Amino acid sequence: MISIDKAVSLSDFEEMYKIHTSVFLSFDQMTKESFLDEINHKNRLYFVAKKDNEIIGYIGLYEYDDDLSIMGVGVLKSFQNRGVGTKMLKFVKKVAKEKLKKSISLEVDVLNINATLFYKKNGFIVTNIRKKYYKDNDALVMFYYL
Ligand SMILES: CC(C)(COP(=O)(O)OP(=O)(O)OC[C@H]1O[C@@H](n2cnc3c(N)ncnc32)[C@H](O)[C@@H]1OP(=O)(O)O)[C@@H](O)C(=O)NCCC(=O)NCCS
Repeated sequence: MISIDKAVSLSDFEEMYKIHTSVFLSFDQMTKESFLDEINHKNRLYFVAKKDNEIIGYIGLYEYDDDLSIMGVGVLKSFQNRGVGTKMLKFVKKVAKEKLKKSISLEVDVLNINATLFYKKNGFIVTNIRKKYYKDNDALVMFYYL
C-alpha cells in the first residue's frame, strides 16, 4: 500500500534528492545545495510517496496566490508507470481544494513526452509555451483548473 506524507526530516530530503538525481536527466538536475535551498524556500510544500516505509516518489509545490505550482515530481524508475505519480497528483488536487486554490500549474520540457502524457491523463491542459525555458528547450505550461 502506498501512502503520501509531508516530507519532514533530513532523511526524507536525502531520499528525495536520490530520486531527483536518478530520474532527471543530468542537465535538469539541481545540485544538492540548490535542491535543499529550493525545498526550504518560502511557501514550498514537499510530499513523499512511501511503500512499506520506503520513499519511492516525491512531489514539490509552490504556493502562490490562487495557484499551487508543481516544482518537481519524480518516481523511482522501478515504480514508474504503476500509478504512483497519479496518486500523488490526486493528493495534490485534494490539498489544492482544501486550500481553496483555483488551479495547479507546472512547466514541463517539450521533449519530456512521458511526463506531458502523464499530466494530460490527469486532466492538465497546455495553456502556453515558454521559449528556451530550459537552456535549449522550450517548456509547455500546463494547468489543471479546480
Ligand atoms: C512523470 C512521472 C512522475 C509519472 O509518474 P508515474 O508513477 O510513472 O505515472 P503513473 O503510473 O501514475 O501514470 C502513468 C502514465 O504516465 C506516463 N508514463 C509514466 N511513466 C512512463 C514510462 N516510463 N514510459 C512511458 N510512459 C510513462 C504514461 O502516459 C502512463 O500512462 P499509460 O500507462 O496509460 O501509458 C514519472 O514517470 C517520473 O518520475 N518521470 C521522470 C521525472 C519526470 O520527468 N518528472 C516530471 C518532470 S516535470
